[in-house]
Amino acid sequence: MCGIVGYIGQRDAAKFLVEGLHRLEYRGYDSAGVAVWQEDGIAVRKKAGRVDELAKLVANEPADGSVGIGHTRWATHGETTDINSHPHTGGNGEVVLVHNGVIENYTAIRAQLQSLGYVFRTQTDTEIVAHLIAHHLEEQIRLGSDPSEVQTYVDAVQVSLKKLKGTYGLAIVFRDHDDLMIVARSGSPLVIGVGEGEYFVASDASPLIGYTDEVVYLADHELAVLRKSGLELSHRDTGIHTPDIQTLDQVSSDIDLGSFDHYMLKEIFEQPQSIENALRGRINEDEATAIFGGLNMDPQQLRRIDRIVLTACGTSWHAGLVGEYLLEEFARIPTEVEYASELRYRNPPLGTRTMVFAITQSGETADTLAAMRECQRKGHPTLAICNVVGSTIAREADGGIYLHAGPEIGVASTKAFTSQVTVLTLLSLFLGRMRHMSYPAGQRIIRQLLEIPSQIEKTLQCNDVVKEVAAKYAEANNFLYLGRLYNFPAALEGALKLKEISYIHAEGYPAAEMKHGPIALVDEHTPSVFIVPRCGIYPKVLSNLAEVKARRGPVIAIACEGDEKIAELADDVIYVPDVEECLQPLVTSIPLQLLAYHIAVLRGCDVDKPRNLAKSVTVE
Ligand code: AGP
Ligand code: GLU
Repeated sequence: MCGIVGYIGQRDAAKFLVEGLHRLEYRGYDSAGVAVWQEDGIAVRKKAGRVDELAKLVANEPADGSVGIGHTRWATHGETTDINSHPHTGGNGEVVLVHNGVIENYTAIRAQLQSLGYVFRTQTDTEIVAHLIAHHLEEQIRLGSDPSEVQTYVDAVQVSLKKLKGTYGLAIVFRDHDDLMIVARSGSPLVIGVGEGEYFVASDASPLIGYTDEVVYLADHELAVLRKSGLELSHRDTGIHTPDIQTLDQVSSDIDLGSFDHYMLKEIFEQPQSIENALRGRINEDEATAIFGGLNMDPQQLRRIDRIVLTACGTSWHAGLVGEYLLEEFARIPTEVEYASELRYRNPPLGTRTMVFAITQSGETADTLAAMRECQRKGHPTLAICNVVGSTIAREADGGIYLHAGPEIGVASTKAFTSQVTVLTLLSLFLGRMRHMSYPAGQRIIRQLLEIPSQIEKTLQCNDVVKEVAAKYAEANNFLYLGRLYNFPAALEGALKLKEISYIHAEGYPAAEMKHGPIALVDEHTPSVFIVPRCGIYPKVLSNLAEVKARRGPVIAIACEGDEKIAELADDVIYVPDVEECLQPLVTSIPLQLLAYHIAVLRGCDVDKPRNLAKSVTVE
């Protein structure tokens, strides 16, 4: 987790750093800090709390200079105090750095450094890196290296990195060199923006928007030496190489809040557009199938696939569950959905014809990345369904499909979920049409899919009704979310949304499973959200709903327009357009996102930055 920024050039570094930290704040918001190189030593400003607190501090105590680094933290080691905030200082102030990741062997290194006389001021794992580099720097200089030579610093960093176990993205500045920043990564993402006589560093590309559109994504075990006059890139195993400069295609309007109060609401309302983007250029109406440019597998290989494993975490895992239903129904390929955090350590028997998809919005989730690497190691074609272009998973996968949903900044995933489901629908259509699915069946799905953006547009009109429903139930302490078949994953996702942003306990279940235990939770204070659009088993879901009503449980129903029967049974009804059963999660998830949003707002929660969470979970 956490966001890192860096700048070296001629501008006011602190301005870029604080602005960049604002853009990265979704990655962690326990504390924030900057360090700026100055003649009389590196000025460090850091504070527990949000980036706004840091901005105030920097306004009161300016840190002028044109070389600097910054950090917004999601704490792993050490409480969220001012002192534990990054940047951290090593030695006698010679080295100052920011870190994203976890140093697993920090206690052993800390003990060694303490025995050499280094004094630790913080409880973090990061501080050992700062002292370790300072220690090796002193050693190099003692052995005769020239402190004005850049190589002296590079050697000290490289020797130190070899001793670290764990993950890191690091940006390091040096008191005794005014034109030098070293950045390095192993496991945690870093991107370098290339300007005219200046370089920008960030954990993802959002802080660079508006400054440069030329970027270099650092690969694992790469280290970059940044000077105002140039950039040198080297890999731990292969040495120095020419940077691969890529063009960024994001624009600043992608990350503007516009007239919305929160990113989450903006992103909910962007779904007609984001789904259209996921569909664009991917439909072949003549052949009633989908088209993908980046799978990197020929039709023969694809036809041989006899099993699919979808692996992901959180919301992306829920999208995977919808994918399982779709792939098995359309393509008749046995499919399993694995939590990435389990799959990475499990050893399920996967055959030579098993294909793996890692599903991820950020492309940086540590567990998903590890699960993907593990499957690749075992020789399975491993592809990514990913939103963030250039992210680690996108780059390391054997092939993949981008969501093209645009930046998702709210910590609670919304538009990425519906884009993932859209892409999985296209994938199921594509693999289905290679196998058993008929031409007319393919055409029917395409017709329905193409209508989804406008159906979502219509669904969003329920916002005012959802707001009223939210006001009625905002004080509840527990919620149940119930749905069957395609709407079971939608129920899980609805419960997760409510939990993460409103801190209300919520459980998602297949509606019929409720009587095997959870029904014991039902009472007049526990609302149940029933997802009951018209479907093959509609009467069965109604029976489940009646079972809750019989126990005086309040019921909020998500039902199809025109369903009058439901209004007699449920306490509140939120209507959505009637769409094909397999596409229902795309519309039923919208009122669930809105319900969580409005309840969280009414409860005074920080919707975009819920407590204890961060957007990309880059630690295990
Ligand atoms: C979603 O609302 C969550 N914040 C979280 O579960 C998220 O979906 C999960 O961490 C996976 O992230 P990814 O899609 O970026 O891999
Ligand atoms: N492990 C470090 C800490 O707890 C860095 C965490 C982060 O990536 O934000 O401070």
